[in-house]
Amino acid sequence: MNTARVLIRDADVVLPEGMVATNVLIEAGKIIAVDAASHTMADEVIDAQGLTLMPGVVDDQVHFREPGLTHKEDLESGSISCAAGGITTYLEMPNTQPPATSLEALQWKYNRAARVSRVNFGFYIGATENNVAELQRATHAPGIKIFIGSSTGDLLVDSQDALERIFAETRLPICSHCEDETTVRANRVRLGESLTVHDHSRIRDVRAAVIATRRAIDLAKRHQHRFHVLHVSTAAEIPIIAEAGPMITAEVCPHHLFFSTDDYDRLGSLVQMNPSVKSPEDAQQLWTALTAGTIQVIATDHAPHTWEEKQVAYPQSPSGLPAVENSLALLLDQANQQRCSLTQIASWMSDAPARVWGLVGKGRIAVGYDADLVLVDMSLRKTIRNAEQFTRSGWSPWDGTTLQGWPVRTLVAGQTVFQAGKVSDSLRGTAVLCDHARGGYWNTLGGIGI
Ligand code: DOR
Repeated sequence: MNTARVLIRDADVVLPEGMVATNVLIEAGKIIAVDAASHTMADEVIDAQGLTLMPGVVDDQVHFREPGLTHKEDLESGSISCAAGGITTYLEMPNTQPPATSLEALQWKYNRAARVSRVNFGFYIGATENNVAELQRATHAPGIKIFIGSSTGDLLVDSQDALERIFAETRLPICSHCEDETTVRANRVRLGESLTVHDHSRIRDVRAAVIATRRAIDLAKRHQHRFHVLHVSTAAEIPIIAEAGPMITAEVCPHHLFFSTDDYDRLGSLVQMNPSVKSPEDAQQLWTALTAGTIQVIATDHAPHTWEEKQVAYPQSPSGLPAVENSLALLLDQANQQRCSLTQIASWMSDAPARVWGLVGKGRIAVGYDADLVLVDMSLRKTIRNAEQFTRSGWSPWDGTTLQGWPVRTLVAGQTVFQAGKVSDSLRGTAVLCDHARGGYWNTLGGIGI
């Protein structure tokens, strides 16, 4: 049991109500004071002068490939990358091999993560056309993931009957990959055989995203089911989400904010992902929807494939890219360019995802919350280099990009898991607790900074 008292002194602290220069006191892994006296006795004093203290990032969409595809990533390497990127909690997707579509497979991941994960974790249970009984039993999962549209792996639920049953007969919040399978397949046939990676955005086009998002939201509304739209990629989905009401939340990924179809010439299949990148105007509109609060969450959809796998000619090249160790820095750099505030970043990347999934004690710097924190240096400039990435996949689509504003120290339950470029070998995260009974939590508490 970690009972230590830690005082973080003289930081610029990003609180829900704004930024304050103060001292934060931690005891036994929890925040016990946010305005502690500078001379408070503690086992460890962290001098944070010149640094900014933020809530640790809660990334609600990662793919860590264990079991089955651990040559790309595993729970240990993925969690190490998280620690380096300022992510203190991740929620992992079920498209592993075998997929996490049963209680047994889900429990295997929880047990494995407890042994190897450097940061906190939770695992979604995946829906199939006929596993409602398993979905009903998985009460400790943060939610149910449905691939309404196939992506990496075999998970797909496209039959209307199966979808109706899942929304009607389960209780966990649901999130979906929304790209209409029929549209995607028809586009593929229409475009013929001599394809280039540019065709990826024509196959997985705006229509495919819109049809599936509309279909999922219709199901959620009719069944009064909490629903979260994963990785929104088009401007056309925004009004559908805006009109859907408070039961429905949505997220956007850094790659859909910072890349567009213009980047295929430079980056080829490195920016091939599902949903595909869309036009620069779509990216701009996604940013506007985020700042307006129509989209509440930023998550990475970290989907590592090896460099060699990504070099295979399209369409055999796999979709997805690694992002967990750069997502926070990408946003901090935007704050330095006055495009958003640190309070907004804390809302999008920590508080909102914690509330969407009912994660007890996560997402805020406030008394009683878990001391999952990240110290960032807003003046540090650093260039992303493939060779320096912690992810087993060993590359970043942002290789060569210089950003200003970087995480320099990450704490999980008050203990330093990342500092001076190194991740601790000895510390382990714990499983998240999900308070789904709170249900209206998202609606009643109100966003911070938005
Ligand atoms: O591009 C993607 N890759 N999108 C997904 O939804 C899945 C992911 C993967 O697991 O590779």
